[in-house]
Amino acid sequence: MSPKIVEMKGITKAFNHISVLDHVDFELQQGEIHALLGENGAGKSTLMKILRGVYQAEEGQILINAKPVRIHSPKDSRENGIAMVFQEFSLVPSLTVAQNIFLTRESRTSVGLIDDRRDEKRAAKLLSEMGVEIDPSLRVEQLSTGYRQLTEIVMALSQDAQILILDEPTASLTHTETMSLFGLLHILKQRGISIIYISHRMEEIFQIADRITVLRDGRNIITESVQNLTIKQVIEHILGHQSAKEIKISTFEHDPTSVPLLEVNNLSCDQGVRNVSFKLFAGEVLGLAGLMGSGRTELARTLFGITPAQSGEIKVKGVRTNIDTPQAGMRSGIALIPEDRRLQGLSTAHTIKDNFELPLINLHRLGSQGLFVNNRKADELAETYIVKLKIRADSIHKQVKLLSGGNQQKVVIAKWLSTEPDILIMDEPTAGVDIGTKTEILEMARSLANEGKGVLIISSELQELLAISDRILIIKQGSVSQEMKRSEIHSEEKLHQILQGVLVHD
Ligand SMILES: Nc1ncnc2c1ncn2[C@@H]1O[C@H](COP(=O)(O)OP(=O)(O)OP(=O)(O)O)[C@@H](O)[C@H]1O
Ligand SMILES: [Mg+2]
Repeated sequence: MSPKIVEMKGITKAFNHISVLDHVDFELQQGEIHALLGENGAGKSTLMKILRGVYQAEEGQILINAKPVRIHSPKDSRENGIAMVFQEFSLVPSLTVAQNIFLTRESRTSVGLIDDRRDEKRAAKLLSEMGVEIDPSLRVEQLSTGYRQLTEIVMALSQDAQILILDEPTASLTHTETMSLFGLLHILKQRGISIIYISHRMEEIFQIADRITVLRDGRNIITESVQNLTIKQVIEHILGHQSAKEIKISTFEHDPTSVPLLEVNNLSCDQGVRNVSFKLFAGEVLGLAGLMGSGRTELARTLFGITPAQSGEIKVKGVRTNIDTPQAGMRSGIALIPEDRRLQGLSTAHTIKDNFELPLINLHRLGSQGLFVNNRKADELAETYIVKLKIRADSIHKQVKLLSGGNQQKVVIAKWLSTEPDILIMDEPTAGVDIGTKTEILEMARSLANEGKGVLIISSELQELLAISDRILIIKQGSVSQEMKRSEIHSEEKLHQILQGVLVHD
């Protein structure tokens, strides 16, 4: 057995007297990939932030290479060879990709000035090693979520760490990007780097991890070699009971002669939507598949009015509609659960309840008169969805920023589901959400459709897209390149090949 590079023993941590970690043990062997698993709010990020020096444990001990160490700051942690990709983005949006990657470690010219050109070259080299095509001179705010995530990963990798912590690195990556990340992790592993990997995607864990540790409610449940476990067993350990429900594949066929709920003709906008036409019928779930940068998110944003179309038309229930702001989108009965939920979907300084009220006030659904809203109704809605989506929070008056990453995601999803829109657009709705809740979200989308509404769903998890969609549109370079019925796609592999352009559907 390889030597232990990290040992965390009896780690205990509470926030405001609420216990989050209760005598947790965790160990990492040299050169292994160790997956840390558990439901949203189980304590994974907190445990890793203790190792990274962001928080301090109240009790417990940390050993690195069998020597006790004191980690009181991120600096202490870095000096012990630890780097981390955080679940919440830590990049500075106004700086370039290269400036972010080498922040505080910038190259200097002979006269001591920051040498941006040199850092751009260093960044370009790192990016190309990872097979990532990003121009290092772009500002981070110009990048989509997936590319931001890749930049975060490259930043952590550039620190020559011996211990690398990845907190949900693939949540907004597509299959292709995930595979190139895995290729890189294998190389790092061969070099003896030890990796802690947090993810809710079970297939990934079984592909990449050597061992797993499961936490539940801040306690150790199991540490075991992946070879000795099945996916089903791991899910049982995570949930503490039998497996998550499987969702049934739908066989809904729309009536092509009916008036579509949403009809889009030759829609274009300079943010990457080109000449898009499609129809969404009542009762239908329409999937949008595409590679990173294909324009799926941009299309969703145009439909909702965030980046209004420059040409083309949108018809809602047969009526041509001008959707040039999100308010106009909402008034037309459209809701968008955004991909970048922390930036676009949430006001994290506010409470769960406040976040729920915002769209409802806009829609005058709370019996509001001016500034006065029906408080009880807002409370009830928030309470109902906390239960439905298993949002882990002691009260609806808790500030959203104090929730775990996945629970924050659930608040955004819940707030838009609660508006009961006619047309729901979901951009990567299950990214970062635990296995027990994924199915709930998809089932809620399906039941909206069953009530005669329409759902447009973007997902990089092809399995999920195949499970929920009645039809699938393939998006390439901002346009719809193909349209298929669910029944015409026989496997995830086939859909993947179509996306890659290896297989053209006939
Ligand atoms: N700064 C904080 N203040 C108060 N409570 C916090 C804080 N950070 C985390 N918590 C609470 O600690 C618990 C564990 O959160 P943590 O972020 O470690 O969960 P997680 O396992 O990473 O979940 P996820 O999969 O959703 O990211 C949650 O109940 C969360 O609300
Ligand atoms: Mg977390």
